[in-house]
Amino acid sequence: MIESISTPAIVIDEKKMKNNIKRMISVKDKNGVQVRPHFKTHKSSYIAHAQIDAGACGLTVAKVSEAELLIKKGIKDILIANPLIDQEKVQLLSPYRRDVRIIFTVDSKEQAKQMITSLIDDDEFEVWIKINSGLNRCGVEPGEEALELAKYVASLKGLKLTGLFTHAGHSYASKTEEQLNQVAMQEVTSIVDTASLCENNGIPITHRSVGSTPTFERAATYEGVTEVRPGNAVFFDRMQMNLGIAKREEVVLTVLTQLISKQKNRLVFDGGSKAFTTEKGAHGNEGVSGFGEAQKDSALILSRLSEEHGIIDLVEENLSLLDKIELGEKRNFIPNHACTAVNLFDQYHMLRTDGKVVQVSIDGRGKSQ
Ligand SMILES: Cc1ncc(COP(=O)(O)O)c(C=O)c1O
Repeated sequence: MIESISTPAIVIDEKKMKNNIKRMISVKDKNGVQVRPHFKTHKSSYIAHAQIDAGACGLTVAKVSEAELLIKKGIKDILIANPLIDQEKVQLLSPYRRDVRIIFTVDSKEQAKQMITSLIDDDEFEVWIKINSGLNRCGVEPGEEALELAKYVASLKGLKLTGLFTHAGHSYASKTEEQLNQVAMQEVTSIVDTASLCENNGIPITHRSVGSTPTFERAATYEGVTEVRPGNAVFFDRMQMNLGIAKREEVVLTVLTQLISKQKNRLVFDGGSKAFTTEKGAHGNEGVSGFGEAQKDSALILSRLSEEHGIIDLVEENLSLLDKIELGEKRNFIPNHACTAVNLFDQYHMLRTDGKVVQVSIDGRGKSQ
């Protein structure tokens, strides 16, 4: 069945995906924390529902258009992790707020103040403060800086502060298990200590949310954490294999390509940067070489990409690859970063447990506003 799929295509394995979702949600029973997976990885309302059905408390999104899609598809609890400054975007969600819990995020006084201009009458927005735990992207610094913002937000009529959250994306630059443990601890401390500081100053912080795929299982074990937000863990990819977070057999998503040209010193497949992206690794991860590796043969590594070509250059050490594959044969390659590869396709080809292949819409694709 897989062989009949027109290439290039994104293929996912349902059984492995369900296992990964189970692994993700298992921290709920093991550690007593909620799980709010990030939508940006799969961009599919079908998979979002699979995560909710397995026990996720809601979804995390980056963008308002992603939230809108999920609301229309029946998801009832959504964190919008990117701070919103454009009030037109905030107002777009107004019609839904009666039926759906939408949590907005703030990381500055100015942005918090702007948010209340979008309120009608006595309404109020639930907000969480975004903390910088070391990624140095959005977020206020933990401790006194966060407390100052918390005091300000708590004083504003129209904003209801209920939580603090952070994303330790810098975990991707870790080279050792020890470094991963260190980042997870730093991630947790930034939230839990700041939450205590707020509470000692009379500001209750009910939700303390952390998470990245390399850290969420570690972070979930700490006292004081109430929620984790893994994204990539639904699929995994070469980066996660390299970090030791996933085994090869746990990787769900591959890009299926066909060998379209075989020359004496190279193999050329029909998937290039428009199927894999040119990503080498997120947030300083430098662990992988090339742009993707065959699922069943780690020696088959794409060394170059142009838009519609994936090339394996053959040198003396790997010339024998020429004998391993015939023109027209198809190969599943594991991409370096699954989340960005997904955003290049309209649908998944999902290999179901009964052996059939079905198409699943990547309906959040292009929802970037
Ligand atoms: C705010 C936030 N939470 C959670 C995640 C999930 O991270 P990962 O894909 O490493 O699990 C991300 C990823 O970008 C994020 O930005």
